[in-house]
Amino acid sequence: MSTRITRRLGVFSVRLLAPLLLAPLMLAPAAMAAEGHGGEPAHVNWQDWKANNQIGDQASLQRGAANFANYCASCHSLKYLRYERMAKDLGIPDDLLRKNLLPDGAKPTDYMMVNFPKADAEAWFGKLPPDLSLITRSKGSDYVYQFLKGFYVDQSTATKTNNLALPGAAMPAVLSELEGVKRAVFAEQGAVGGHGGGPVVERFEVVAAGSLSPEKYDAFVRDTVNFMSYAGEPSQLQRNDLGIWVVLFLLVFTGFAWLLKREYWRDVH
Ligand code: HEC
Repeated sequence: MSTRITRRLGVFSVRLLAPLLLAPLMLAPAAMAAEGHGGEPAHVNWQDWKANNQIGDQASLQRGAANFANYCASCHSLKYLRYERMAKDLGIPDDLLRKNLLPDGAKPTDYMMVNFPKADAEAWFGKLPPDLSLITRSKGSDYVYQFLKGFYVDQSTATKTNNLALPGAAMPAVLSELEGVKRAVFAEQGAVGGHGGGPVVERFEVVAAGSLSPEKYDAFVRDTVNFMSYAGEPSQLQRNDLGIWVVLFLLVFTGFAWLLKREYWRDVH
């Protein structure tokens, strides 16, 4: 008798608890997305370079915001994001915001726009630098990471550089003082590209070293892409915070449910 009841209770509690226990897994967003994999490739598998965003890493987001302000904001806007919201989300104090991140003449309540005469931009680059609010969502953060690491010298273009991820890119290699300048040695004509397609690179050759080591440059780009991913969806920070509370609640709740079950069944045994 009592075993049957226990068994039924077992089924019941599994049915009840399974969805509750699985819920946090389903709620956890792309944060758990695949990691990059190691191993020395035959070619430079730049198509496999991964941004490995850490949206919960506030220090990285702060560094990324500073990178963006110093190296990108002169050409690119983030037109849905206000300076003050960014400062609040990333834990940047007001005085630091004003000193380091606000362009001259801008107010904290302003959206992050560029004051760049359109006609000039078109004359200089042949096209307008796009607003970058949604770039990590439309093309993926790995793409942006590959783009920022994908510049190589190419005398045949107006900018004297080209880009692996965006062949013929009109954007100049604005980070070359940090990264250095590299030449790409391409595989024989007809070689087939990596998984993502695009040019097959046999190796890079350093033309001029940059002020950052390759590891530091990678970290710089990672932080910048991390920030752009935040800017594409600022509410994901709050959602991540919320997720932790949901998981904690479920754990505590499971504990209570178990205690309660034990209490109820104490007399039956
Ligand atoms: C001097 C102006 C200038 C600066 C500074 C600049 N960019 Fe650009 N950027 C451009 C232009 C122009 C384009 C358009 C390129 C094209 O479509 O060929 C562009 C395009 C892009 C794109 C879109 C690529 C695509 O696939 O459409 C990304 C991403 C980007 N820039 C990121 C950055 C980041 C990050 C920084 C700062 C590290 C930066 N840019 C700094 C001018 C600039």
